[in-house]
Amino acid sequence: MPTLSCIGAGLLGKTLCHLLSHQLTIGQVINRSANSSQQAVDFIGAGSAGSLDNLLPADIWLIATPDDGIAAAGQALFESGVLEAGNIVFHCSGSLGANAFQFASQGVSRASVHPIHSFANPSQSIQSFAGSHCAVEGEPQAVEVLSSLFNAIGALPFDIDGDRKVLYHASTVMACNYLISLLETSQQLLSASGVSSTEANPLEPLIRQTMDNFFASDAKSALTGPIARGDDKTVARHLAALEAEPDRPVWQQVYSALGNAAVPISAQQGQASAESLEIIQKLLTANISGH
Ligand SMILES: NC(=O)c1ccc[n+]([C@@H]2O[C@H](COP(=O)([O-])OP(=O)(O)OC[C@H]3O[C@@H](n4cnc5c(N)ncnc54)[C@H](OP(=O)(O)O)[C@@H]3O)[C@@H](O)[C@H]2O)c1
Repeated sequence: MPTLSCIGAGLLGKTLCHLLSHQLTIGQVINRSANSSQQAVDFIGAGSAGSLDNLLPADIWLIATPDDGIAAAGQALFESGVLEAGNIVFHCSGSLGANAFQFASQGVSRASVHPIHSFANPSQSIQSFAGSHCAVEGEPQAVEVLSSLFNAIGALPFDIDGDRKVLYHASTVMACNYLISLLETSQQLLSASGVSSTEANPLEPLIRQTMDNFFASDAKSALTGPIARGDDKTVARHLAALEAEPDRPVWQQVYSALGNAAVPISAQQGQASAESLEIIQKLLTANISGH
């Protein structure tokens, strides 16, 4: 079996090494401290703790340091002289491409594989990783080998254009992190209205139903409410009420920015008149720009 060595065996690195240990022989596992490297080896159940000062050859290298350390770790690997033509070096950052590795190729194939998965709990991730989508880009040999390996551990690899990968990553951040911002902002508005949500959260069924409608069809079918109906007077009343909460300017900003994104969806539906949508857009845009 080909050998996989890993520089940066933290949450993601040690989980992937464990999962790939049925497909590959695990070679060196390298963290900053010897103690941390050994703990990762224990978790993986294979490999040996190594150090950047004593690198041994391997067919595939996973660089899973935090993003800021990827280029330097790749460079250190290159300068160690252990890389040979035909080797593969990859990282798992969502926002960086294979070109984060700046070292001269010399027959080494470079790639990135970004799993859309949270590795916060590696023991759980070992069980739940199968079914995770993974964005893969880079040099053809590396893309082919890594796609096949990730397929073998149950992932769903898909190709992505390295030049546009950062947009893909912004999409995952919006879908995951900013969804939390939206839910929390809705929650704060609910509390400000005086509705208590300590026992049953009255927004929860609405949120789940909306998600189900979106994934069962599309935005055009799922959008309801004042912007879908072209009800500019309700939008104006919302904005006036939000304006009366000057301590929380972010409420207005979120309402206006996301309302603006709803206008073209409403236009596609065709229920609201063009005039009402124009009024709504002007109200929301004026609000965002503070005029
Ligand atoms: N966590 C996720 O859910 C997730 C999801 C998708 C993609 N990713 C990507 O996966 C990569 C790793 O993220 P992570 O969350 O696994 O990070 P992490 O848990 O912080 O682990 C980073 C590891 O890198 C080691 N390290 C740092 N600098 C090093 C260096 N110069 N030489 C050798 N080892 C070094 C650390 O060793 P010490 O223990 O000795 O400090 C640590 O074990 C990042 O590119 C991230 O964007 C993460």
